[in-house]
Amino acid sequence: MQTVEVQIPGYEYTIHIGTHILDQQLPQAVRQFGVDLIVVVTNTTIHELYPFCIQQCLEASKQQIETCILPDGEQYKNLDTLNQIYDFLLKKRANRKTLVIAFGGGVIGDMAGFAAATFMRGVPYIQVPTTLLADVDSSIGGKTAVNHSLGKNTIGAFKQPVYVCMELNFLKTLEKRELIAGFFELMKHGIIHDAQLFTFLKNHQNVLETLDFSVLEEAIEASCRIKANVVEQDEKEQGWRATLNFGHTLGHFIETHTNYTSYLHGEAVGTGMVFAAFASRELGFLSEAAYQDIVSFLQTLACSIQLPALNYPLFKDLILHDKKANQQAVDFILIRNIGECFIHNNTSPELIWELFQKFIDTHPWACQVITS
Ligand code: NAD
Ligand code: GLY
Repeated sequence: MQTVEVQIPGYEYTIHIGTHILDQQLPQAVRQFGVDLIVVVTNTTIHELYPFCIQQCLEASKQQIETCILPDGEQYKNLDTLNQIYDFLLKKRANRKTLVIAFGGGVIGDMAGFAAATFMRGVPYIQVPTTLLADVDSSIGGKTAVNHSLGKNTIGAFKQPVYVCMELNFLKTLEKRELIAGFFELMKHGIIHDAQLFTFLKNHQNVLETLDFSVLEEAIEASCRIKANVVEQDEKEQGWRATLNFGHTLGHFIETHTNYTSYLHGEAVGTGMVFAAFASRELGFLSEAAYQDIVSFLQTLACSIQLPALNYPLFKDLILHDKKANQQAVDFILIRNIGECFIHNNTSPELIWELFQKFIDTHPWACQVITS
């Protein structure tokens, strides 16, 4: 088992990563909090695969445990579904001593975390991630949110979990497409902050077939350390944390423009990373050799995004709704080398549109716009 400590002053917490760890680590962590009710937030798919898994794990604690089961899918990551959590908490007479456990992927983690941030002005929550994407990214760092039809993750709060337990055995039931989506976020951390992780992943790409837990444990630990380090420096994204959004300018646009129904978040980010690497090269920041190194790796996994018709006003409107944007421009995350990123402040939507036109002409394998 690997342990990563997140050291945000006043909000320190532990991440455990390993196999067969949940039964022992989760009850130990829960014992530290004097709670009178535990509410597990999960979805229909996970509940069917792992019915009452958390309850069984915490049986000996003799605490009251209730399970709130939400519909499954990014399209349900909205205020209506969030309200279902509040209804549930109120019906179960939850109070400030209630502990929320997010049991699922990034969608459940983001919604349960936001509910925990806002219910009774804040209750503690634990993350028990069940997808690779949630292991490497969404379960740590304390960003919680729901989507709005005009913008991804636009309604949310910063709320750090009190503990994170990454039980890797859950990955055995995850679909390959979902594993790849998580792998993109792993690659992201390597591309922006750690060339060694990038090389490690390139050398162990077959882990998506073998599900070798020792390789995964090493990669996830590295990924958690990178993210923890960035979040410790800039929890509320005043600057440096924005670098974790590499690939998200186009990625969030893809998700919003396809109504959150066609592509997985990680897939959209994967194509967004190809675009950001392309833009870095076009603008003269990234060498051709480094660009080829990154893109040849991404291409082996990238999914071919088909976008509905769009024009500049629509593109601009959606790009400027991104959280990294102001009224006129976007903070676009670019790279100078593998493992070395920077924030290209105040990038105009005109420039991004120009780059995007070139990108779809030259990278039809990554992204196409369907015109008829
Ligand atoms: P997800 O939560 O939708 O899970 C993907 C699918 O896998 C779902 O259908 C889910 O029910 C299913 N599933 C989950 N665990 C499973 C398991 N063990 N076996 C079989 N099926 C399982 O998607 P995700 O990729 O985990 O997360 C994406 C979300 O995370 C997006 O909404 C994104 O915005 C968010 N995100 C948040 C952060 C953050 O810092 N808060 C970072 C990255 C992404
Ligand atoms: N996933 C980006 C962040 O946590 O900041």
